[in-house]
Amino acid sequence: MSVHKSSEVKKITTHQLQEMKNRGEKIAMLTAYDYSMARIIDGAGIDVILVGDSASNVMAGNETTLPITLDQMIYHASSVVKAVKRALVVVDIPFGYYQGSSGEALRSSIRIMKESGGHAVKLEGGSEVKDSVLRILSAGVPVMGHLGLTPQSIYKFGTYTVRAKEEEEANKLLEDALLLQECGCFAIVLEKIPASLAKKVSASLQIPVIGIGAGPDVDGQVLVMQDMLGITKDFKPRFLRRYADLNTVITGAVGNYVKDVKARDFPNQEEKY
Ligand code: KIV
Repeated sequence: MSVHKSSEVKKITTHQLQEMKNRGEKIAMLTAYDYSMARIIDGAGIDVILVGDSASNVMAGNETTLPITLDQMIYHASSVVKAVKRALVVVDIPFGYYQGSSGEALRSSIRIMKESGGHAVKLEGGSEVKDSVLRILSAGVPVMGHLGLTPQSIYKFGTYTVRAKEEEEANKLLEDALLLQECGCFAIVLEKIPASLAKKVSASLQIPVIGIGAGPDVDGQVLVMQDMLGITKDFKPRFLRRYADLNTVITGAVGNYVKDVKARDFPNQEEKY
């Protein structure tokens, strides 16, 4: 499916995502960090593009999401925004740019919106980020929440295993989700939690709940693009479905190019001026 054929592309808004939940239409979201890939996935009909701080892992090669800076996120987001005609572009506020104070959270969000042209921001946490969420929203910036496994807190958790398996943590997650909705968040990401809990949260909330490793009974799904396209080979969590094996495709294509260059087969007579 290509949505770029007509010049009248209907842009996805936060209101449309709400309507999608209301009528039971699932929301498809993927990450992107650069112009070329964002252009492809926008043309393929993705509803939401997340410029995730997972760029720290998949683009910059860091072990965690912690090192990526606000400037780097803005660079990735502005590249994505230039490519997108239809999808809603949500940009992660990276670690260290909203936890200090609600004023800092607002300043970071305003920089993202002004300098990248993104349409919304996402941040991790529940009650502990309430003031920041409210302050950002007061400036008219849509906010997406993120609960469950929150990778910016990896050194607190210690591992990337499933979160909220125990009752106490599950109750706190549901309370946080309701709080984020009450604050005015337009949607929430739930990462790596039991499917039964995600189902309960989705049913309890009016706003869309987007899952990653949260089972089928939520309002949409998000994956990291490099994972679902099979570019990152070693990351194999149970929740990940691979829709392509681009690692093999690229390795084969580059191998053939190297072979052709070495054999003086490329460029040939037709491939020169
Ligand atoms: O940064 C990211 O890619 C994310 C998704 C995993 C939801 O936050």
